[in-house]
Amino acid sequence: MSAEEIQSQLARCPSLPSLGSINHALQGLLQPEQRYTAQIAEIIRRDPSLTARLLRLVNSVYYGLTTPVSTIEEAVFYLGIRQIRQLVMVTPVIEDFQRLTRQCHFPWREFWQHCIGTALLTREVTNAVQSSGDESEYVAGLVHDVGKIVMAWTFPDHFAEIHRQAVQATRSLTEIETEVLGIDHGELGALYLERHHLPEILIKTARFHHQPEKADAYRHIVASVQVADLLIRSEKLGCSGDYLEVTREQCFNASGWKELLTDTQEVERTIARAALSHTLQLMPKMLEGLV
Ligand SMILES: [Fe+2]
Ligand SMILES: [Fe+2]
Repeated sequence: MSAEEIQSQLARCPSLPSLGSINHALQGLLQPEQRYTAQIAEIIRRDPSLTARLLRLVNSVYYGLTTPVSTIEEAVFYLGIRQIRQLVMVTPVIEDFQRLTRQCHFPWREFWQHCIGTALLTREVTNAVQSSGDESEYVAGLVHDVGKIVMAWTFPDHFAEIHRQAVQATRSLTEIETEVLGIDHGELGALYLERHHLPEILIKTARFHHQPEKADAYRHIVASVQVADLLIRSEKLGCSGDYLEVTREQCFNASGWKELLTDTQEVERTIARAALSHTLQLMPKMLEGLV
């Protein structure tokens, strides 16, 4: 398909309201000076799907509790502000995405696990290499594969054919996408995000997350997403739609590490890897609770 055809089809793909207004209500309340559990709980209570997800998450992470957590206040207490904030961002994005992909056959639940797992790990990767961040790297991780959703909606027949070939696990997904559709999910996602005037950081992440060395801005974040994406795939958590196996070795040799650990000592690399391995162990339980 030609670039013009792709662009004109893309114009039909609806925008995702959640991406533009992610931080609204809770963001202000979650500032360090204003951690009032009661107020946070009140806001969460107004959103039934967020409430359900929150309770599921706290009970799956703290599965050893003798009495399951059943109130929002308790859940906020156990999970802490950071996880609540992440949950608040995840919920509307996933719901928007789910609306878009209802028609198309694909292991979507496992795909959300891939996206959320990548988001959580992107944060851990940036923490492990001691770079401070806001929530943007988390959102970047969450939407890195938005191109797959856009592809499923805009080009359902091509998408089905691509995934018929991808499950055979002989070639990488991007290679098959380029051959079948003429564009891969990274570039398609970037075009979509550009069309909807989303922040540059998300556009760069979508476009370059398989080759962070090519990014001309936000290379640090893009590199973190690449590493997180590979780690999640190597653990076989969720389903990215790319069935080629990823080894732990490939994760730790990923090109993104050069960006992340330029002048870091060997000992710090070891610490970073140990921290990430620890997070990966906790991940299956967290993902079960979230999606
Ligand atoms: Fe990808
Ligand atoms: Fe991915």
